[in-house]
Amino acid sequence: DLSPIDKAKFVAAKRAAQFVTSGMKVGLGSGSTAAWLVQCLGERVRVEGLAMTGVPTSRRTAQLARDVGIPVMSLDEAKTLDLSIDGADEFNGKLNLIKGGGGSLLHEKIVATASERMIVIADASKRVETLGAFPLPLELISFGWQTTKALVEETLIGLDVLGRTASLRMNGDAPFATDEGNYILDLHLHRIGDPRQLSMIVNQIPGVVENGLFIDICDAIVVGYGDGRVEVT
Ligand code: A5P
Repeated sequence: DLSPIDKAKFVAAKRAAQFVTSGMKVGLGSGSTAAWLVQCLGERVRVEGLAMTGVPTSRRTAQLARDVGIPVMSLDEAKTLDLSIDGADEFNGKLNLIKGGGGSLLHEKIVATASERMIVIADASKRVETLGAFPLPLELISFGWQTTKALVEETLIGLDVLGRTASLRMNGDAPFATDEGNYILDLHLHRIGDPRQLSMIVNQIPGVVENGLFIDICDAIVVGYGDGRVEVT
């Protein structure tokens, strides 16, 4: 008795869990869809004796992985990964993504880039023609964040986007802090004409650590539907 959206996330996660084989070191993403994946992999470890190691992309995922019986190690211990499986906030037909709705984009991008393959799991509502309806998260160093924000807004003027407002992500009355203690600036761009260019340019701004665009990183997307269907693209 899952809601259609949870059912869609679950079936995508369950299918993607089948791509893991014994001996693999697997990057474990963050967010609600990735949480289903961790559950499914935990079940395979317990029931089938699947011998895998997980490299979590957030403290929350690390805790969940331990709770379900998946052995975990850090990226520095693993060094290279066979596969990484993660959710996304938006994906397009070129398999480019916006991530970071949960604030874990930095670790997620480092882990996905260190992996031989990255598979994204998502419900079908996250498919878009053009990226940018979902606010693009930037991870910023807290030092001088208002100066960095002003520079980001100025930089956006020259770029092919529809909206140009930026808001500091909050957690109640305080700025939201990432696992690295950094801040998140959400960019309301509505439409990103050239994601590759935007990603390169914002990452040049001092104080910006990383952005949520994943360009040419994802290899396949497992899309789940509320009626239980799954498509692999
Ligand atoms: C976490 O920082 C994000 O990159 C997630 O992958 C993204 O927000 C998807 O989360 P859900 O699976 O909860 O939609």
